[in-house]
Amino acid sequence: MKYTIFFDTSTCIQFLLDEGDLSSKISEVFNSVVSSENKIHLIIPTYETIFPLLNSKNGDFNNFERLNQLLANSKISNTPLITPTWTNIEHQLLDATAHLYKNPIIITQDEDLLSNSKHADNCINFLKKIYHYQSISFLDLKPLHQELRLPLRQAFERVLNSGWYILGNEVKLFEQEFACYCRTEHCIGVGNGLDALQLILRGLDIGTGDEVIVPSNTYIATWLAVSYTGATPVPVEPKLSSYNINPALVEKAITPKTKAIIAVHLYGQVADMDPINAVANKHDLKVIEDAAQAHGAKYKGRPVGSLADAAGFSFYPGKNLGAIGDAGAVTTNNAELAEKIRMVANYGSKIKYQHEVKGLNSRLDELQASFLREKLKKLKQWNAHRKQIAEYYNKAFIDVSDLITPKVESWTDSVWHAYVIRHPQRDRLAKFLADSGIATMIHYPIPPHLQLAYQDLNYLEGSFPIAEQIHKEVLSLPMGPHMTINQIETIISKVQEYESFPLLDRKH
Ligand SMILES: Cc1ncc(COP(=O)(O)O)c(C=O)c1O
Repeated sequence: MKYTIFFDTSTCIQFLLDEGDLSSKISEVFNSVVSSENKIHLIIPTYETIFPLLNSKNGDFNNFERLNQLLANSKISNTPLITPTWTNIEHQLLDATAHLYKNPIIITQDEDLLSNSKHADNCINFLKKIYHYQSISFLDLKPLHQELRLPLRQAFERVLNSGWYILGNEVKLFEQEFACYCRTEHCIGVGNGLDALQLILRGLDIGTGDEVIVPSNTYIATWLAVSYTGATPVPVEPKLSSYNINPALVEKAITPKTKAIIAVHLYGQVADMDPINAVANKHDLKVIEDAAQAHGAKYKGRPVGSLADAAGFSFYPGKNLGAIGDAGAVTTNNAELAEKIRMVANYGSKIKYQHEVKGLNSRLDELQASFLREKLKKLKQWNAHRKQIAEYYNKAFIDVSDLITPKVESWTDSVWHAYVIRHPQRDRLAKFLADSGIATMIHYPIPPHLQLAYQDLNYLEGSFPIAEQIHKEVLSLPMGPHMTINQIETIISKVQEYESFPLLDRKH
């Protein structure tokens, strides 16, 4: 159902004040309307009315970011001619205007308006209504960017006006800021997460004839990075409890050709790095973190990115820290490696038009760096929101017998890139949720060793049974900083509804 939304004066003021519970509920209404590509209709008498009111409530109003946001997504409505019959003429005008539109709802907290206008509703009721009818997307980045509209536009202007678009000040500053965030000495911005891993491997002189240990349960990019260098990925099974590589199985996979181990921090949870680093030390191997899904996660208090010889990050838009396009980075404490990666990523060149190796073009661009700088400021808050959602899910699913919730190991502070459950009837549950308007995803439906791309390695169904079981049973529920607790409650109640059907009746 599509509504035409009207904000009355007091709703506008609450939105602009941006403080307290009511303001945050109204922001939720605002975001849900704007992300459905609708405009909000404002019937604000005039600036002369609204500013004195704002100033009287807030001392000296200066939240122009909010005002811009409101005006950029609003239409100012014309009011029809009316014969005044209500005691409050402003309310009657609002009601008469709303009446001219399809499915109008006036968002207001005003008791007089709520009792006199059949179009009026308070924001809590409205939110309940839309969550009941509106589908819940798996990941909606629009509200997130909506919230950052002004700083992102300013970042864009900064880059546009600088006249310098590749390897400039924004990249330099982002590299410093992200290195500081990861507590490493170096950060090199690159084109994407796959390149970040590939460049680390090349920087470590890994290539044809070498072997690199990788998890059997990961996104295929981890394996592809190895293959691009000419080396061979050697899979090791994960622990079923954490979904991350099982350190106890790593040593058995080491051969004279092994040069490195890639530990992936899957779904936001850090791999058990101490035993992995210990076995690597023993055999003189390099360790690389694939931190594409774990920006800000910690291992025994230390941030990912600083836990091995080097780490590769992806800033794909859906990641915890995402650009508005493709982007990636390498972090390391090894100055020599950092310099080499910078050179290889820039056509194999340190001095313009002098090429030491056959490099590639994989650079973080100024625009993405400027966006990432703004988004990095929000990462802590966004990760905390993800954690809150995960705790909500965990608590609600504690008594659901068929459903296996994610186990967080004691050493890790997960950043919940994905909330991944396991369920014996995964596909049926996913269909039931889809039919109820809730989007889910599978991370991932086919393990790398069974992908056509890797048929040359001759693995078969059954080669890596734990990874295969995971891929058959996992289901990712919606998760992200855009999500509201109302939406989470809707998802929880639908999962519980599914679970309440007797096993044989779950035919959906
Ligand atoms: C675990 C993992 N590694 C590597 C990558 C590759 O990152 P990108 O898409 O930026 O190339 C991804 C991205 O999805 C990933 O999830």
